[in-house]
Amino acid sequence: MKKVLFVCLGNICRSPSAEAVFKKIVEDRGLVDEYFIDSAGTYGGHTGEPADSRMRKHAQRRGYNVTSLSRQVTSKDLQEFDIIVAMDNSNYRNLLNMANSEKQKKKIVKMTEFYSKSDYDEVPDPYYGGPQGFEIVLDLLEDSCNGLLDHLKRQN
Ligand code: 4NP
Repeated sequence: MKKVLFVCLGNICRSPSAEAVFKKIVEDRGLVDEYFIDSAGTYGGHTGEPADSRMRKHAQRRGYNVTSLSRQVTSKDLQEFDIIVAMDNSNYRNLLNMANSEKQKKKIVKMTEFYSKSDYDEVPDPYYGGPQGFEIVLDLLEDSCNGLLDHLKRQN
């Protein structure tokens, strides 16, 4: 079983959506037994909260149920997960700063490493913008999560 953790800042918009999109792709490909999938935020200020209602609405329209509750990423996560997928450059840097070994650093990647196009090099924070920001997040996540699963399957 491979353990995949998605990480953003608040764990109420991007990473819970990445978790939901990746779970759906894994289900659709019949691989549920092979993956443990979770998400967390580098900032703990939304701990226990459901995902942002705008994000849930946009995701639901595409058939994704975003159900996770916010939690902060811990140093234990860096030990226990096999791959830790940061949404943006700031999340990526913060995770690298938390890592306490080269082994842990190697687990940390950026979502857009698995994106098939080159118009974005991070998943932008939609929190303070308009509705289009949530659609961009979902477009990026759908493409990148497929790429991530292809990548993980190649490692087996
Ligand atoms: P997320 O979005 O990192 O995609 O969950 C944000 C949610 C909340 C805040 C920032 C980003 N915030 O500052 O409260």
